[in-house]
Amino acid sequence: MDKYVIRGGRPLQGAISISGAKNAAVAIIPAVLLVEGVCRLENIPQISDVDMLLTILEGLGAKVDRLDGSTVEIDATDVHFVDAPYELMQKIRASYYFIGSMLGRFGMAKTTMPGGCNFGLRPIDQHVKGMTALGATVEIKDGFVYANTPDGMLHGSKIYLDKVSVGATMNIIIAASRGRGRTIIENAAREPHIVDLANFLNSMGADVRGAGTDTVKVYGVDRLHGGTYSIIPDQIEAGTYMTACAAAGGEVRILNVIPRHLECISAKLREMGVTVVEGEDSVLVRSNGRLRPVSVKTLPYPGFPTDMQPQVSTALCLAGGTSMVTEGVYDNRYKYMNELRKMGADVSVDGCVAVINGVEALNGAEVKACDLRAGAAMVIAGLCAQGETSIVDIHYIERGYENFVGKLQALGADITHVKDEAPAAAAAE
Ligand code: UD1
Repeated sequence: MDKYVIRGGRPLQGAISISGAKNAAVAIIPAVLLVEGVCRLENIPQISDVDMLLTILEGLGAKVDRLDGSTVEIDATDVHFVDAPYELMQKIRASYYFIGSMLGRFGMAKTTMPGGCNFGLRPIDQHVKGMTALGATVEIKDGFVYANTPDGMLHGSKIYLDKVSVGATMNIIIAASRGRGRTIIENAAREPHIVDLANFLNSMGADVRGAGTDTVKVYGVDRLHGGTYSIIPDQIEAGTYMTACAAAGGEVRILNVIPRHLECISAKLREMGVTVVEGEDSVLVRSNGRLRPVSVKTLPYPGFPTDMQPQVSTALCLAGGTSMVTEGVYDNRYKYMNELRKMGADVSVDGCVAVINGVEALNGAEVKACDLRAGAAMVIAGLCAQGETSIVDIHYIERGYENFVGKLQALGADITHVKDEAPAAAAAE
């Protein structure tokens, strides 16, 4: 099995550049199905989730031209409603965006139920509620989602989401873009990638207003045209390197970021005693020795992101006192704590609350990546630990971090990717 081997104890020094946002790219690529004309997407992260989504689009008849690593041209003019590569769809969470984009383009959809990291129950009832409000009939049967419209198109409607859901907000925006009339989404999620999706759609001729607030209005248009769009930098990738520097020590300049998107993370790191200096499109992170314990509660944006919870909890394992972390989005996102215990962490979990008593040092151990961000957390633990840490199930990590090992090596980390002949398959968030 492939693994990362890390010899810990080296502070991180230098500069790295952040890639395009995974959670924006994985919505925008399925949304290209709505576009007639050539879409040139820039700043696409080179991660396996993106590869799988592009392959799914090709399976639906789109022409996909991977120009260089981070630029791709997609022409979905001649797509047809055919069976998609379902074995790929069921591996990734973001395949649920094909429900919205197929409905918008074909007036019908057939997808698998989404896969993804297992954080407990992850229903798609709010997606279904949205599509139903737009006039579709949706049936979930034998692991597939079937959706249909009586007259071949969706019709604008008012939808109040019972739960602030990133995926449902984006899926309804995608679907409604080529529906007829006005759709209003209330209690919408406000994450930066929702604004990015809206900007992408608008630059192709859609009319989406209010993205980034809790009320989004979508005025359906007859067609979307091609164009060029550059995806925003990845908030969570940046936050992961910021936290790695905070935990392992050193000074790192993180380039190609939107500092405003990082404010919730920067503020928490400052509370932990770390210096964070914002530039125009960069942040400088400097460790000032042992971290201070803090309380963290994850919430939808602009709250502290759940996708940063494992990384920050891991850093807090080495803080000078007791921290309390409350997971406010998912009901089961602490499985990785068992792995941290193998490294000497003093953590206890009760429901959605983790109590972390900081220890003087973590010890290298053999651990696994339980999911994408938990895997990143293990890497941070390994960077801080005394001795050697090896991490298996790294396919999770590689689904969401472009060139993780190379970027850390550039910062002076002693980390290597030890390859095995037979890679395993898995699912990401
Ligand atoms: C997306 C991200 C994921 C991130 C999460 C929250 C992708 C591919 N994944 O996941 O990295 O952790 O946002 O920022 O972009 N819920 C329901 N019914 C629904 C939908 C969601 O009950 O129909 C619940 C979920 O179980 C969860 C909460 O709402 O407890 C938030 O989920 P949501 O924001 O939808 O997350 P995802 O879109 O799955």
